[in-house]
Amino acid sequence: MSTGLTGADWIWKDGEFIPWGDAKTHILSLAVQFGSSVFEGIRCYETEAGPAIFRLAPHIRRLFDSCKIYRMAPEQSAEELEEACREVVRKNGLRDCYIRPMVIRGYGSAGLDPSASPVESYICAWPWGTYLGEGALEKGVDVCVSSWTRAHPNTFPVQSKAAGHYNAAQLMKMEALANGYVEAIALGPTGLVSEGSGQNVFLVRDKSILTPSLDGTNLTGITRHSVIRIAEDLGIEVREGLVAREALYTADELFFTGTASEVTPIRSVDKISIGEGKAGPVTLAIQRRFMGIVRGEVPDTEGWLDVVV
Ligand SMILES: Cc1ncc(COP(=O)(O)O)c(C=O)c1O
Repeated sequence: MSTGLTGADWIWKDGEFIPWGDAKTHILSLAVQFGSSVFEGIRCYETEAGPAIFRLAPHIRRLFDSCKIYRMAPEQSAEELEEACREVVRKNGLRDCYIRPMVIRGYGSAGLDPSASPVESYICAWPWGTYLGEGALEKGVDVCVSSWTRAHPNTFPVQSKAAGHYNAAQLMKMEALANGYVEAIALGPTGLVSEGSGQNVFLVRDKSILTPSLDGTNLTGITRHSVIRIAEDLGIEVREGLVAREALYTADELFFTGTASEVTPIRSVDKISIGEGKAGPVTLAIQRRFMGIVRGEVPDTEGWLDVVV
């Protein structure tokens, strides 16, 4: 099976580049033992002006938020990690790619008090195509409502993108794939719609948009924020609120947003066809604008692109 992890030679670690194959950590590092690690996922797009990293500063800010929640202090400043992301793209000669900064607790502590484990920062990047499969952006995907529920707020703090939280996301994803779906949408502890395993979800009904409010069970997605701005710019009304499971089935259109997933139409949920069972016009208008901005084809009026020179 292809890992998809190819196409780059260098990984940045605490200020230095190390060969891809040398980026190893001890089996007893806390990142391995307890999932003590936080990460980001950022996309860089090829544009005429050069490779452009989408919303780099907000991603690094969220990385620092993730660290703070878990009482981890990276050695670097936000500006240093931003520059390191650009350097990783440059050093590997990448253009279209996915950037994965990680801050981990390394080898040292034996128990749950992590103070003897150093905090280490890594930045990896590699070319990564459409996350939800070939044709997903055009045709849409078939998804299910997961039998797994998102964690109650004040259990796993979801505003931290902590690696350990993604065990639950893997349960969702694996179950969905085992049942023949591409992805899953999870409900929160109150039974209302939360988000996908690694995406936010949007509903369209009567040409206006609804997305679950940020209730401590779902991530403050940077694509979610960008799409809300784009929709408003296109004159489409957007509301954040409570979303019952059945509202998914009766929506005119549904779509996912995320760095990996970009703007992916959803054509069915639990084998119930959404709208006409294909990518809908509102979804496609937003997707077109989003892809136009990231590819540098539509003016970047918000300053979302960070061109790597
Ligand atoms: C659980 C979860 N929800 C939503 C998202 C989408 O967030 P973003 O648009 O910032 O990538 C992600 C991806 O980071 C995620 O892991």
